[in-house]
Amino acid sequence: MLELILRRQSDRKYSDTPIEKEKLERIVEAGRLSPSACNGQPWKFIVVNDRELIKSVADAATFKLTGMNSFAGQAAAIVVIVRENPNFSSKLGGAVKSKDYSFYDIGIATENICLQATAEGIGSCILGWFDEKLVKSLLQIPGSKRIALIVTLGYSLSENRAKRRKDKEAVISYNKY
Ligand SMILES: Cc1cc2nc3c(=O)[nH]c(=O)nc-3n(C[C@H](O)[C@H](O)[C@H](O)COP(=O)(O)O)c2cc1C
Repeated sequence: MLELILRRQSDRKYSDTPIEKEKLERIVEAGRLSPSACNGQPWKFIVVNDRELIKSVADAATFKLTGMNSFAGQAAAIVVIVRENPNFSSKLGGAVKSKDYSFYDIGIATENICLQATAEGIGSCILGWFDEKLVKSLLQIPGSKRIALIVTLGYSLSENRAKRRKDKEAVISYNKY
């Protein structure tokens, strides 16, 4: 598992090879099977594999001033993760504990999607920066919904990089803060 975690990285350069249908299905299946608070499954995964639509979603995710996320246009597929209403128990628990568990759930599902992509030899990148209103209109998502995250997918042209992370001492402790 750690090997897979080390291999997963934000890939921002893709070849134009399409992703096989079975691979794409297994990648979103990893999202669907994810754990969630009270098993509420507060998500919908929209797979975008239409070339024109990929270009439009990528354009909506690109920060024109810097070109950030313009690489998304090279993706062979994009998964748009929509937040659905959590079930009653998750909502109640969340209200009592002042936590909207649905976004935690979606974070977990997103990483499962990325890890399955890695296992399939497919590169991925999570996008949190995009024009939500525009993506909603492109994909006919009701205005009342939130798009939590977007994942770009494609055969990566990037080498595996060493991870840049805080030191263990800074983020891990035992038996006290
Ligand atoms: C919630 C979230 C939002 C992110 N948004 C973007 C984004 O909009 N564009 C981008 O290029 N990378 C984005 N990333 C990728 C991070 O920059 C990346 O995960 C981090 O720098 C660690 O690098 P690694 O994924 O290669 O290990 C996002 C990651 C997460 C978890």
